Amino acid sequence: MDLEKIRKNAKKAIEEASNLEELKKARSDYLGRKGKLKKVFESFKDLTLEEKREIGPKANKLKEELSKMIEDKVDKFSESSSPNIDITKPGERVRGGHLHPLTRLEDEARHIFKSLNFSVVDGPEVESEYYNFDALNIPPGHPARDMWDTFWVNKQENSKKSFLLRTHTSPVQVRYMEEHKPPFQIIVPGRVFRYEATDASHEINFYQLEGLMVGEDVTFTNLKYVIEEFFNKLFSNDIEFRFRPSYFPFTEPSIEVDIKLPDDHPNGGEWLEVMGAGMVNKRVFDAAHYNPDEIQGFAFGAGIDRLAMVKYNIPDTRLFYSSDLRFIKQF
Ligand code: FA5
Repeated sequence: MDLEKIRKNAKKAIEEASNLEELKKARSDYLGRKGKLKKVFESFKDLTLEEKREIGPKANKLKEELSKMIEDKVDKFSESSSPNIDITKPGERVRGGHLHPLTRLEDEARHIFKSLNFSVVDGPEVESEYYNFDALNIPPGHPARDMWDTFWVNKQENSKKSFLLRTHTSPVQVRYMEEHKPPFQIIVPGRVFRYEATDASHEINFYQLEGLMVGEDVTFTNLKYVIEEFFNKLFSNDIEFRFRPSYFPFTEPSIEVDIKLPDDHPNGGEWLEVMGAGMVNKRVFDAAHYNPDEIQGFAFGAGIDRLAMVKYNIPDTRLFYSSDLRFIKQF
């Protein structure tokens, strides 16, 4: 068998192969078990020692050469890989993740307040009794403490060494004022905890959005404007709300804000309390070592879960934490 002739024909077959099938055929014709090169090796038994010495290395070299040529071309076909893709196969549905409704509402609130020039600030979820209560004009034994049922982490005599899961985002007010000089306006979105019985509008773990604006001449009118602006932007000018007089130890005067659930809400027509607010109490400025004669400010604390209940027509706040995918997937 003429090795040169095999080389010539094999190269031609490999070069001319225009797809993987033809290439596989060329491999089997020349390198396969019944291939032409295999026959050359089989014929060795009839050769003299001298002939074997001459042809053996040449045949081996040709085998390597052809194998390499074929491998290179296989790689080239795989790169463009079109012969391996079945374009008739039905597509697989891509299931993308998405944001939880509470995250969406918080994002939107951050966006609105940033457009009103507020900065976003953070505070610890495990808080000292001092910042959660004392610094907000709620000393030990004060009846107002009953307004916030508390998960204690370790209860101590010294309220600065006594820790709890924060019952509201208001402690960040004093933390921020201790470190910054007015004027400023901030919001504090965050998780809070209450040791209380749950129902359709109460969870033991929920989210609040604290707001605090302090300056020389920040007024109650400014507070009303900011709240109205926030609601009108969040609900596209299509919501009814009311301000009610109320009481908080850390604001004076204090109000609460209710929203009327829209007609297409499962509880349409009912009023839902969504926020507490007021002018910062002088005692809170004292705790922050501000001079109350030089500055004034307003604060508010909104329930993010409640706002999401209004915005997304949710009848029961516990659904947010139910892990029921049928609920979550609707958003
Ligand atoms: C407070 O927590 C005050 N820190 C709010 C505040 C801040 C007043 C600054 C004045 C100045 P309250 O306990 O009412 O107040 O809670 C505020 C809001 O959180 C409520 O209006 C309601 O929307 C929401 N909220 C309260 N408790 C729950 C609960 N268990 N589950 C879900 N949302 C709740």
